[in-house]
Amino acid sequence: MLRDTTVLMNEQRIFKPNYHVVEEAHVKNWEAELEKGKDIEKYWAEKAEQFEWFKEWDKVLDDSDKPFFKWFVNGKINLAYNAVDRWISTEKRNQVAILYVNERGEEKKITYYELYREVNKMANALRNLGIKKGETVSMYLPMCPELLISMLACNKIGAVHSVVYSGLSVGAFVERMNDADAKVLITADGTYRRGKIIDLKKIVDEAVLQCPTIETIVVVKHTGSPIEISDLSGREILYDRLVEGEPDTFAPEEMDSEDPLFILYTSGSTGKPKGVLHSTAGYMVGVATTLKNVFDIHENDLWWCTGDIGWITGHSYVIYGPLLLGCTTLVYEGAPDFPDPGIWWRIVEKYGVTKFYTAPTAIRHLMRFGNKYPNLYNLSSLKILGSVGEPINPEAWIWFYENVGKGKTPIMDTWWQTETGMHMISPLPVAGLKPGSATKPLPGIHAEVVDEQGEPVPLGKGGYLVIKKPWPAMFRTLYHDEERFKDVYWKEFPGCVYRAGDMARIDEDGYIWIQGRSDDVLKIAGHRVGTSEVESAFVSHPAVAEAAVIGKSDPIKGQVIKAFLILKEGHNINTTIIEDLKRHVRYELGPVAVLGEIVQVDKLPKTRSGKIMRRILRAKEEGEDLGDTSTLEE
Ligand code: PRX
Repeated sequence: MLRDTTVLMNEQRIFKPNYHVVEEAHVKNWEAELEKGKDIEKYWAEKAEQFEWFKEWDKVLDDSDKPFFKWFVNGKINLAYNAVDRWISTEKRNQVAILYVNERGEEKKITYYELYREVNKMANALRNLGIKKGETVSMYLPMCPELLISMLACNKIGAVHSVVYSGLSVGAFVERMNDADAKVLITADGTYRRGKIIDLKKIVDEAVLQCPTIETIVVVKHTGSPIEISDLSGREILYDRLVEGEPDTFAPEEMDSEDPLFILYTSGSTGKPKGVLHSTAGYMVGVATTLKNVFDIHENDLWWCTGDIGWITGHSYVIYGPLLLGCTTLVYEGAPDFPDPGIWWRIVEKYGVTKFYTAPTAIRHLMRFGNKYPNLYNLSSLKILGSVGEPINPEAWIWFYENVGKGKTPIMDTWWQTETGMHMISPLPVAGLKPGSATKPLPGIHAEVVDEQGEPVPLGKGGYLVIKKPWPAMFRTLYHDEERFKDVYWKEFPGCVYRAGDMARIDEDGYIWIQGRSDDVLKIAGHRVGTSEVESAFVSHPAVAEAAVIGKSDPIKGQVIKAFLILKEGHNINTTIIEDLKRHVRYELGPVAVLGEIVQVDKLPKTRSGKIMRRILRAKEEGEDLGDTSTLEE
């Protein structure tokens, strides 16, 4: 895919047709807005004025204790109040806030007023369960309205939520749950996927046996399949029963700007998953501003982000961004190709979606079915399209642009991360576009591409992507792991600049081309999967002595896993063991860990201190030069 990008980069073809959206865009002049963003404190303070504060901040940015930056110091605010309550006294009161649709064709519309009442009931219920400000509530839920309601209820009472993606399985779930010290877990009976019901409760039943902090399990009856309230100690309660009779008003907790908002686990290159911690006010300012600028959100927009709420894309742009801007957010549960590959386009037509944000892997998957499906539907309501999660290859960009956008809608290729919380590098709708380039850092963002010493590299040359100045939605630390926070992100380059973990280059027009991760993190269908997590899953299988995994290119998923295994005495690779290994890894990690190839080896390349050199395996795989092998053991 990177090779394609290079070809197009050389072509330097710029797309700047007469998009009809340009007329109504909030930001009319890209370059002028970028200029404004040079003064970060002024720029972000102006954006913070869009909210209702209980108390305004004393200082925009406190950088006296780097890298622990603080934004909107001493401000008091509540996210749920601004995302929901604020709209109740306006004409938006009866506008649909959440439009839930699933692959079975069922829908549920929740207005801002209904959402307000539901969130308040749940806030009261959580309080009654004894949840105090600053305590953590975990969620393992499908894309259902109760997930959004529960997250907002947490904000309302000042609790910190930790949402675990419902596509992760027992092992991954236990690890995340135990790190977050949650007392309450909210889950569901199941979720719809390709015509089947995935039994989430069964996974939870198994996992919670290993989660000692969980005192209460709240179960949403979502699919209506029979569920067992299996715990006789009374630890489990149905969601409907919990909120029944609760008052529908609640005074929002006055949160300090820097109070923690949520923890979201993501994979790193080594060790356990990282609990990325976001705080309140800066996050709100960052996600609302970027969504408004990048997708030019107006109040009457029907916004659809297909990302799962279990990842950062869903947190920032399925729930928080759109509700903070007061538009309607479409929440879709199901697969992109079931009951047929026209389902997404049918939904766009039926509801009149105006802005549509998805991932390259989904586009590549749908592209396989040709132009037929997008051509079956009237997609003329679409004004802006977006892409996120991995570099988008130009073929997919152009297919999306021509078949879904009909050559009239610009594509916002947004580069960002769980850690950044918000879009960082992306065009605005008025920009000239190059397929495969996320274009330029957004206003207020100062990104650069540097060499190992932290010096800017010449134009066109690859280097490390860094962010030189703080931004409001930046993560504040790694939960339970401040040292790792400092070491992984802030120590490598001088001057306390943020190391993103991606390689990139800048072309002569100042456009940034993201080339992929510089570390051992895999991107499988846009999901971030840590090599060490997969290796641990393999090693926990009785036949495996040692494991090393790398990413192998895949035309649809971007990458899949290639595993090199040293098996224990008496075991040899064969189809039975491969099937068993696949089952085992799926049980530990869930369907995100897509296995492409498993090979048996006698030895793995290691440094003298015993660290596996995945770089060598990758180079061999790609038929590239092995590079510096001086640290290789043998
Ligand atoms: O490698 C980059 C890739 O996704 C990584 C962040 O993954 P995650 O924290 O899971 O967040 C994904 C959704 C924001 C980045 O380090 N990435 C994300 N967006 C792009 C991208 N790579 C290229 N182009 C993008 N637009």
